[in-house]
Amino acid sequence: MKSSTMKKADHSLRLREASLTTPTDLPATATRDIAAALNGLLADVFSLFMKTKSFHWHVSGPHFRDYHLMLDEQAAELLAMTDPIAERVRKLGQITVRSIGQISRTQRILDNDAVYVEPSDMLAELRDDNKALAASLRESRGVCDDNHDAGTAGLIDTWIDETERRTWFLFESGRGGDSSGH
Ligand SMILES: [Fe+2]
Repeated sequence: MKSSTMKKADHSLRLREASLTTPTDLPATATRDIAAALNGLLADVFSLFMKTKSFHWHVSGPHFRDYHLMLDEQAAELLAMTDPIAERVRKLGQITVRSIGQISRTQRILDNDAVYVEPSDMLAELRDDNKALAASLRESRGVCDDNHDAGTAGLIDTWIDETERRTWFLFESGRGGDSSGH
């Protein structure tokens, strides 16, 4: 049986959680499912941002300037996605990811900790990661459609287009070269 101190602590935690429940006409089952999809996307986008930025820092070779600048643009685009994703979760009265540790436990896009990666391998890996992100975005949009959440769906439409644009640029920049990027 719980002590009265534990009961009090539970009660106060429930009150604090309730204070984060932004009012919405969407049912709790809907906001829970949409938030789960968005938090998965948020973890993936942070991971892909980090990898893109790391490749921006570490790319080398004859196409350095082109690749370095393209990857910086793409990283900025990914970072710009994170705040609207998290705020969408809060608008639905749900809780976002709160730490790097939680991101690492949630992300589906894999890290690359290699000290050296060939430029062509960098582009190919990011191309595939962005392609996978587009698939996750499309799947999340389906969750929004099922729950009549036009607000989140509208944002996701733009992110799908941006993600496909990144995939396109990575594909075109990486084709036809040898492993050094010539
Ligand atoms: Fe930079």
